[in-house]
Amino acid sequence: MSNRTFTMIKPDATSKGYTGAILDQIIKAGFSVKAMKWTKLTKEQAGLFYDVHRERGFFGELVEFMSSGSIVAAILEKENAVEDFRTLIGATNPANAAEGTIRKNFAASIGENAVHGSDSDENAKIEGDFFFSKLEIF
Ligand code: CMP
Repeated sequence: MSNRTFTMIKPDATSKGYTGAILDQIIKAGFSVKAMKWTKLTKEQAGLFYDVHRERGFFGELVEFMSSGSIVAAILEKENAVEDFRTLIGATNPANAAEGTIRKNFAASIGENAVHGSDSDENAKIEGDFFFSKLEIF
Protein backbone atom coordinates (compact mmCIF):
# COMPACT_ATOMS: atom_id res chain seq x y z
CA MET A 1 0.00 0.00 0.00
CA SER A 2 1.34 3.40 -1.01
CA ASN A 3 0.87 6.46 1.19
CA ARG A 4 0.47 8.91 -1.68
CA THR A 5 -2.34 9.96 -3.98
CA PHE A 6 -2.85 12.56 -6.69
CA THR A 7 -5.59 15.18 -6.93
CA MET A 8 -6.76 17.99 -9.16
CA ILE A 9 -9.08 20.77 -8.12
CA LYS A 10 -11.09 21.17 -11.33
CA PRO A 11 -12.04 24.32 -13.31
CA ASP A 12 -15.57 24.53 -11.85
CA ALA A 13 -14.16 24.75 -8.32
CA THR A 14 -11.26 27.11 -9.06
CA SER A 15 -13.55 29.50 -10.98
CA LYS A 16 -16.11 29.58 -8.15
CA GLY A 17 -13.40 30.47 -5.62
CA TYR A 18 -13.54 27.14 -3.76
CA THR A 19 -9.81 26.32 -3.99
CA GLY A 20 -8.91 27.58 -0.50
CA ALA A 21 -11.86 25.88 1.19
CA ILE A 22 -11.15 22.57 -0.59
CA LEU A 23 -7.44 22.66 0.33
CA ASP A 24 -8.43 23.47 3.92
CA GLN A 25 -10.72 20.42 4.03
CA ILE A 26 -7.97 18.21 2.56
CA ILE A 27 -5.33 19.40 5.04
CA LYS A 28 -7.71 19.17 8.02
CA ALA A 29 -8.40 15.56 6.99
CA GLY A 30 -4.72 14.79 7.60
CA PHE A 31 -3.19 14.93 4.13
CA SER A 32 0.11 16.74 3.63
CA VAL A 33 1.07 18.34 0.33
CA LYS A 34 4.20 16.87 -1.32
CA ALA A 35 3.90 18.82 -4.60
CA MET A 36 1.47 21.43 -5.91
CA LYS A 37 0.91 23.64 -8.96
CA TRP A 38 -1.81 25.96 -10.24
CA THR A 39 -1.94 25.59 -14.00
CA LYS A 40 -4.20 25.25 -17.05
CA LEU A 41 -4.38 22.21 -19.33
CA THR A 42 -4.56 22.34 -23.10
CA LYS A 43 -7.13 20.08 -24.77
CA GLU A 44 -4.33 17.76 -25.80
CA GLN A 45 -2.97 17.53 -22.23
CA ALA A 46 -6.46 16.93 -20.79
CA GLY A 47 -7.00 14.19 -23.38
CA LEU A 48 -3.71 12.52 -22.49
CA PHE A 49 -4.42 12.68 -18.77
CA TYR A 50 -7.84 11.03 -19.26
CA ASP A 51 -6.69 8.76 -22.09
CA VAL A 52 -8.22 5.71 -20.38
CA HIS A 53 -11.68 7.27 -20.96
CA ARG A 54 -11.07 8.05 -24.68
CA GLU A 55 -13.74 5.61 -25.91
CA ARG A 56 -16.39 6.76 -23.42
CA GLY A 57 -19.30 8.91 -24.58
CA PHE A 58 -18.40 11.70 -22.18
CA PHE A 59 -14.73 11.98 -23.26
CA GLY A 60 -15.18 15.08 -25.47
CA GLU A 61 -17.16 16.87 -22.77
CA LEU A 62 -14.56 15.89 -20.17
CA VAL A 63 -11.66 17.24 -22.26
CA GLU A 64 -13.52 20.50 -23.04
CA PHE A 65 -14.31 21.03 -19.38
CA MET A 66 -10.88 20.13 -18.01
CA SER A 67 -9.19 22.57 -20.43
CA SER A 68 -11.76 25.35 -19.88
CA GLY A 69 -10.07 26.98 -16.89
CA SER A 70 -7.37 26.67 -14.29
CA ILE A 71 -6.76 23.59 -12.18
CA VAL A 72 -4.69 22.91 -9.08
CA ALA A 73 -2.71 19.66 -9.24
CA ALA A 74 -1.21 18.12 -6.11
CA ILE A 75 0.45 15.04 -4.70
CA LEU A 76 -0.84 14.26 -1.21
CA GLU A 77 0.56 12.05 1.52
CA LYS A 78 -1.25 10.18 4.28
CA GLU A 79 -1.44 6.60 5.45
CA ASN A 80 -3.85 4.70 3.12
CA ALA A 81 -3.93 7.82 0.93
CA VAL A 82 -5.79 6.58 -2.17
CA GLU A 83 -8.71 5.02 -0.30
CA ASP A 84 -8.97 7.72 2.37
CA PHE A 85 -8.91 10.48 -0.23
CA ARG A 86 -11.69 8.85 -2.25
CA THR A 87 -13.74 8.66 0.94
CA LEU A 88 -13.04 12.35 1.61
CA ILE A 89 -14.12 13.48 -1.87
CA GLY A 90 -17.22 11.25 -2.12
CA ALA A 91 -18.93 9.59 -5.09
CA THR A 92 -18.11 10.70 -8.67
CA ASN A 93 -21.68 11.97 -9.04
CA PRO A 94 -22.21 14.59 -6.30
CA ALA A 95 -25.89 13.59 -6.18
CA ASN A 96 -24.69 10.30 -4.64
CA ALA A 97 -21.91 11.78 -2.48
CA ALA A 98 -22.15 11.44 1.30
CA GLU A 99 -22.82 14.47 3.49
CA GLY A 100 -19.68 16.42 4.34
CA THR A 101 -17.63 15.11 1.41
CA ILE A 102 -15.86 17.57 -0.88
CA ARG A 103 -18.06 16.75 -3.85
CA LYS A 104 -21.22 17.07 -1.74
CA ASN A 105 -19.99 20.44 -0.48
CA PHE A 106 -18.61 21.90 -3.71
CA ALA A 107 -19.60 19.93 -6.86
CA ALA A 108 -22.48 20.65 -9.24
CA SER A 109 -22.73 17.56 -11.47
CA ILE A 110 -21.01 14.32 -12.50
CA GLY A 111 -19.12 16.18 -15.23
CA GLU A 112 -18.21 19.21 -13.14
CA ASN A 113 -17.40 17.43 -9.91
CA ALA A 114 -14.88 19.80 -8.28
CA VAL A 115 -12.02 17.35 -7.66
CA HIS A 116 -10.23 14.33 -9.08
CA GLY A 117 -8.74 11.59 -6.93
CA SER A 118 -6.61 8.68 -8.14
CA ASP A 119 -8.33 5.28 -8.07
CA SER A 120 -5.26 3.12 -7.34
CA ASP A 121 -1.67 3.36 -6.09
CA GLU A 122 -0.45 2.65 -9.62
CA ASN A 123 -2.52 5.46 -11.13
CA ALA A 124 -1.54 7.85 -8.33
CA LYS A 125 2.10 7.43 -9.38
CA ILE A 126 1.34 7.75 -13.11
CA GLU A 127 -0.85 10.84 -12.58
CA GLY A 128 1.62 12.54 -10.21
CA ASP A 129 4.43 11.95 -12.71
CA PHE A 130 2.24 13.45 -15.48
CA PHE A 131 2.35 16.82 -13.72
CA PHE A 132 5.53 16.89 -11.65
CA SER A 133 9.22 16.32 -12.22
CA LYS A 134 11.40 14.69 -9.55
CA LEU A 135 12.63 18.14 -8.55
CA GLU A 136 9.10 19.30 -7.77
CA ILE A 137 8.16 16.37 -5.50
CA PHE A 138 9.57 16.09 -2.01
P1 CMP B 1 -12.69 11.89 -12.31
O1 CMP B 1 -12.64 11.23 -10.97
O2 CMP B 1 -11.81 13.04 -12.54
O3 CMP B 1 -12.41 10.78 -13.42
C1 CMP B 1 -13.03 10.75 -14.68
C2 CMP B 1 -14.03 11.83 -14.84
O4 CMP B 1 -14.94 11.66 -15.90
C3 CMP B 1 -14.91 11.87 -13.62
O5 CMP B 1 -14.20 12.38 -12.53
C4 CMP B 1 -16.06 12.72 -14.09
O6 CMP B 1 -15.83 14.09 -13.92
C5 CMP B 1 -16.10 12.39 -15.56
N1 CMP B 1 -17.28 11.57 -15.83
C6 CMP B 1 -17.52 10.33 -15.42
N2 CMP B 1 -18.72 9.93 -15.86
C7 CMP B 1 -19.25 10.96 -16.56
C8 CMP B 1 -20.45 11.15 -17.25
N3 CMP B 1 -21.38 10.17 -17.30
N4 CMP B 1 -20.66 12.33 -17.86
C9 CMP B 1 -19.70 13.30 -17.80
N5 CMP B 1 -18.52 13.16 -17.15
C10 CMP B 1 -18.31 12.01 -16.54
